[in-house]
Amino acid sequence: MPTPLVPNPDRMLKPKVSPDHESLSRHAADWLAARLRARPDALLCLASGGTPTRTYELLASQPQRLRRARFLKLDEWGGLAMNDPATCESYFRRLLLAPLGRAHRLHGLRSRPADPETECREVRAWLAVNGPIDVCILGLGVNGHLGFNEPAAALQPFAHVAKLSAASLNHGMLSNARNRPSYGLTLGMADLLASREILLLVSGRHKRAVLRRLLAGTVTPRLPASFLWLHPRVTLLCDEAALGSSVAVAADTASEPEE
Ligand code: F6R
Repeated sequence: MPTPLVPNPDRMLKPKVSPDHESLSRHAADWLAARLRARPDALLCLASGGTPTRTYELLASQPQRLRRARFLKLDEWGGLAMNDPATCESYFRRLLLAPLGRAHRLHGLRSRPADPETECREVRAWLAVNGPIDVCILGLGVNGHLGFNEPAAALQPFAHVAKLSAASLNHGMLSNARNRPSYGLTLGMADLLASREILLLVSGRHKRAVLRRLLAGTVTPRLPASFLWLHPRVTLLCDEAALGSSVAVAADTASEPEE
């Protein structure tokens, strides 16, 4: 019988702080490399966006680390052509698949499916066969979203079609989009919480307010990231700009990449 994971309040969502985005990214890449050493065929669920970009570059600079890893997109912009430069698909092809230099499957939601609901059902079925996610890499939205699980009165458990919030529609990824997305496609909160481990990356002064709300520890669908308090194995890496000096939490200075 596997040992059940017991939540330890002293360790949960305790930020490990790096001085800046570069050192945060190096810490995250080393942390992921350690997970891949332990489980070379790990299923990695991947957020896109500005925060993890450098982490992926660092990982991809040592392609042997990723030789057997399996990739699942966390979400996708609905309505954009798959080859639109703004899609998560294009982002991962550029950052991970091209440097790996060989056919490497990227699983997950397509940006312009014939029927978005069917697309979500298919990803659910794929996860049921190929899951669980070993490591889920997440970024924190300025409004507290995870993927396109947007703040709302209620959250959805599984892959679903999402109404994009104003924060998502203003996301930097869309600055080079050929068209405007009309909806989002995303894994749901239960999908994320069923991951064996979660890595949450938070960087930049503009994340300070939402990180402070997250660290307050109130679990609410108005702050979807707060559901991470329900998971016993979340590693939260942030930089000093995101944490700020005024946050009254006991934060570790990130020195050791593995634990
Ligand atoms: C992107 C995604 C989003 C981002 C979040 C943070 O695939 O799922 O939830 O992770 O908006 O984005 P950045 O890292 O650009 O601040």
